[in-house]
This record gives sequence, C-alpha cells and structure tokens, in this order.
Amino acid sequence: MSAKANWDAELYEAKHSFVWKLGQGVIDLLDPMPGERILDLGCGTGHLTDRIAQRGAEVVGIDASPEMIGQARQNFPQLRFQLQNAGEMKFEDEFDAVFSNAALHWMTNVEGVAAAISRALRRNGRLVAELGGRRNIGHIQDAIESVLCHFETVTMPKSRTYFPSVGEYSSVLEANGLEVRFAQLFDRPTPLEGTNGMEDWIRQFKWYYFEQLPPERRREALDEVLNVLRPILWREDGWIADYRRLRIVAIKM
Ligand SMILES: C[S@@+](CC[C@H](N)C(=O)[O-])C[C@H]1O[C@@H](n2cnc3c(N)ncnc32)[C@H](O)[C@@H]1O
Repeated sequence: MSAKANWDAELYEAKHSFVWKLGQGVIDLLDPMPGERILDLGCGTGHLTDRIAQRGAEVVGIDASPEMIGQARQNFPQLRFQLQNAGEMKFEDEFDAVFSNAALHWMTNVEGVAAAISRALRRNGRLVAELGGRRNIGHIQDAIESVLCHFETVTMPKSRTYFPSVGEYSSVLEANGLEVRFAQLFDRPTPLEGTNGMEDWIRQFKWYYFEQLPPERRREALDEVLNVLRPILWREDGWIADYRRLRIVAIKM
C-alpha cells in the first residue's frame, strides 16, 4: 500500500493491533526521556505515539493516510498529529529522535525518506525503527503472486513494499549522514487473530493485488491463496504470518 492508498483504520484497530503491541520493544530501544522532542513517523492510529508521550517526551505523529490520522486524533485528542507524507516533510534539525514502527517499509521513496529523516534530526539525534526486513512475509507474497498470475486479467502490480537487508538499509542511511550503531534482522512468526486471520490480513495489507480482478472473481482467488498457504502457515488452531523484522538504531552525524 503506498502512502496514497486507503488504509482501513477500523479493520486495523479491530484485527491488527498486534502491529503496535509488538512495537513495544522498539519503544524500549528508543528509551524516550522526559522533555525530548520525538517524531513518530508513519504513526498510524497513534497508539505508540501515546506510549512515547506517556514517558514524558514531546511527540508529534505524522502519517500520510487521512483515515489513520483521523483515527489517531479520535483515539488521542490531547496529542499532536499531522497529515503528511514522510518524503515531503520539511522539519529541520528539530528532533532528538525519529521513531518508526512498521511503517518505513511502506515508504518506497527510500532515499527521499532517509534524507528527510536525517534533515529532521538534530546532530547526534537518533533514528530508532523497526520495519519489515528481507523476505518479510515471503510465503504470503509468493502465494499471492503464484495464484494471481494465472488470472488472465491481472497485470502484477509493482510491489508497494520495501523489505531491505541489513547491508542494503545501512548503506542507504549512511549515504544520508546517519551512522548505523545497531542493526538486527530476525524472524518473528506472528499469530493472526481468529480463524479468518489470514483473510483479514490479506484484505488489510495486500488487497491491491486482488483489486486487479473483476469483483466477482476476488473470492475465488483469495480462497486459492489460502489453500496454498494452509499447509505452510496454519498451525493447529490458527494462522502464523511469516514476518521478518529489521531493527535499526542510527545516529545523525
Ligand atoms: C502498518 S501501519 C503502522 C502504524 C503505526 N506505526 C503502528 O505501529 O501501529 C503503517 C503506516 O505507515 C503509513 N505510511 C505509509 N507510507 C507513508 C508515507 N510515505 N508517509 C507517511 N506515512 C506513511 C500508513 O499510512 C500507515 O498508517
């Protein structure tokens, strides 16, 4: 989903709260201090923005989706949120830290966003982020592509996500004046909620593939994808998504 695509904030709140709940560890890595100025990049519905504020930091959340920012404002009216595309933000030397959870991999203007993050940080400020890493949700992606390529109406859309390796992302950050101090790529098998968990997940995060099909054929395609995935990602009582995460700490030089 690009910044311009619609985010279903209601489905996100109802079924995908694990995204921010599992981001709690990234807040610990950020270790926000009272009085620090912190930018939450791709803040979504604002739950982690709020966790940062609870530690006494002065935080602003930005997100490119009107639906997500609208929900964030409704959830946390006392906090500051701005509707803004990360690649176009104009902050300069303003923040002690830029924080981001599960959002940078949606920002396919990778160089532009790294440059904007670097610009937004003051000298010695830190970027602390978690994003999807190389081969994140590899089985899910493969299943969708292998099924949909058999439907004659589908032109495979360009991927809307960027899942880099440690080396690849470190190079991007270094080229933009950010020195990488910590980087870790790890598997994080993630249980999805309920027996419809994989369908909900695909509808939230990968539906743009299915939108290429006439509406009456989407159900059939989705069922085929679920059949491919069941032997790989269904455990006794639920779906497990094959997440791989990349955690990064980098300092503005
Ligand atoms: C999976 S959500 C994560 C939200 C939040 N960080 C959390 O942990 O719940 C990804 C968010 O990134 C936002 N996003 C994607 N591309 C963006 C861009 N170019 N600029 C700002 N936000 C963007 C989306 O609108 C979405 O709200």
